[in-house]
Amino acid sequence: MCGIVGYTGEKPAKDLLIQNLKSLEYRGYDSAGIALQDADGLTVLRRVGKVDGLAAAAEHLEDASTCGIGHTRWATHGAPSERNAHPICDCSGKIAVVHNGIIENYQELRQELQANGHTFKTDTDTEVIAHLIEEAYEGNLYEAVRQACLRLVGSYGLAVVCAQEPGRIVATRKGSPIVLAHGEDGSYVASDIIAVIKASRDVAILDDENYAILEPSGITYKDANGKDVTPHIMHVDWDVDVAEKGGYPDFMLKEIHEQPRVIRDTLAGRMVNGHLSIEELGMTLDELQTIDRVYIIACGTSYHAGLIARELIESWARIPTVAEAASEFRYRNPVITPSTLVVAISQSGETADTLAAIRLARIKGAKVLGITNVVGSPVARESDGVIYTKANKEIAVASTKSFLGQIVSLTLLAMELAQSKGKLTTAQIRVLFHELADTANQVEKILSDTTAIDEAAQATKDAHDAFFIGRGMGAQVCREGALKLKEISYLHAEAYPAGEMKHGPIALIHEGFPVIAVATKSPTYDKMLSNIEESRARGAMVIAIATEGDEEIKKYADHVIYIPRVRDAFMPITATVPMQLFARSIAIARHCDVDKPRNLAKSVTVE
Ligand code: M6R
Repeated sequence: MCGIVGYTGEKPAKDLLIQNLKSLEYRGYDSAGIALQDADGLTVLRRVGKVDGLAAAAEHLEDASTCGIGHTRWATHGAPSERNAHPICDCSGKIAVVHNGIIENYQELRQELQANGHTFKTDTDTEVIAHLIEEAYEGNLYEAVRQACLRLVGSYGLAVVCAQEPGRIVATRKGSPIVLAHGEDGSYVASDIIAVIKASRDVAILDDENYAILEPSGITYKDANGKDVTPHIMHVDWDVDVAEKGGYPDFMLKEIHEQPRVIRDTLAGRMVNGHLSIEELGMTLDELQTIDRVYIIACGTSYHAGLIARELIESWARIPTVAEAASEFRYRNPVITPSTLVVAISQSGETADTLAAIRLARIKGAKVLGITNVVGSPVARESDGVIYTKANKEIAVASTKSFLGQIVSLTLLAMELAQSKGKLTTAQIRVLFHELADTANQVEKILSDTTAIDEAAQATKDAHDAFFIGRGMGAQVCREGALKLKEISYLHAEAYPAGEMKHGPIALIHEGFPVIAVATKSPTYDKMLSNIEESRARGAMVIAIATEGDEEIKKYADHVIYIPRVRDAFMPITATVPMQLFARSIAIARHCDVDKPRNLAKSVTVE
């Protein structure tokens, strides 16, 4: 969603800010803007649409400014328009603010500020911040921002400049990330590491309600009482060129092809002297043994990984497990006791609903284990233990490699729980682990020849709707397959447990209706064949994802996509890959932007 950048130093700020805004484009946005400090005060430029449009509009601006802030906005309060784009100024135009998050009490603050004579020029919640800073400003920007923040209810990541304080940016946060780096040419702030790592690999992660005062020579950190503090510094070891396509036509394809590496990296160091090792769980063996219920909370693709984990935990560890959308969990009254383990899954580690669900779980006394891809993210910081998926930065909005990283991490967790409960022996764990590691090779094999997938995609590309059907693990994989297809190709797709088709959805089937069926060799294979027959008898065009060597399936399907034989528990890893490629192939055929689907944002930081 929204993105913040800021720079103060020796170099012209304009191009640096625009370049850094471009690195945040993957998050999704609808407008962009910059505010530059110069001899005349502040120059603010905003545009609806892509950063390229902003860059073109900025061409006529001089390169004199060496300090400024920038923003990509994903509209929440106020339509996507130039006047609602950030940076947003106070009445005098001397203070400019960029803001990520939502100010919940903005309406009452707006009324109060209007009564005090402030004139509002936008429909945003953010504008109250600019006017509050204006009211509090007495020659010290940090102090004014601090005073303003005392009045805010909600979440924010902020960067602020003031015409009267040349070369200075004040940044702060509450519930929305802010990171900082000081490099040879100056000081940088952003809401995402990717926009600061070119300056330094050592990135400061600002704590909630702390402040950073950026100047060309360095960054000072303070808490809400004005006391100097030392931020947590994270060393970033992933490649800077992760933000490049590396020869692939789009990030989605590049990230799909990274999946064998993700599986290997996620498993690296997990089998030590023949024993499973997940130290980051943050739980003793006693604590693990007392767990009598597991809740898995997450959103979107991460929730689908949770549904797969539920099957594994119940089947191996025999612990009752519920996987639930975090947006639902947070408003229910779930049964949680100190012996409940809550597993929160989030690629970005920033998803607002998942964070709210974590907080609820902790208030109720549960231990929370975070599974995230982003080191130092809010999910990591608010959980009792963290397992990091080793996907590295994921740029395409549609999650692919992070999903596989999550499934592999959750599979390890299920093994660990089963072992601690005495349900799986060390010898059984070793066998499972080796088979799990082998899925990296199997995914490589699937990626090496996509002919059948592309043919099936060609046959489906002009459809209006599609069903994904499966049973057991297959039913869960289908949810992800349908989500991938709808989000990037805008083709309406639904996932159904195959046995449910005849209870309603089959009414929609007509001649040529695409039905994608996960029909791998599993305990319910024969049942799947019957379900496929039911759809086919009504005219469905069936695309089966089947196990290599299965000749019988050809009698039931119009197209067969073969995947290597793996045990059913690991089938989600292999079966997901053709579904990702299938969705991408259709999206490309329909001329869709697979990396930046309309209306979507990479991190959903608002409710
Ligand atoms: O960062 P998170 O894993 O918490 O994000 C949750 C969802 O927004 C996300 O999985 C979304 O559904 C995917 N990008 C879809 O591909």
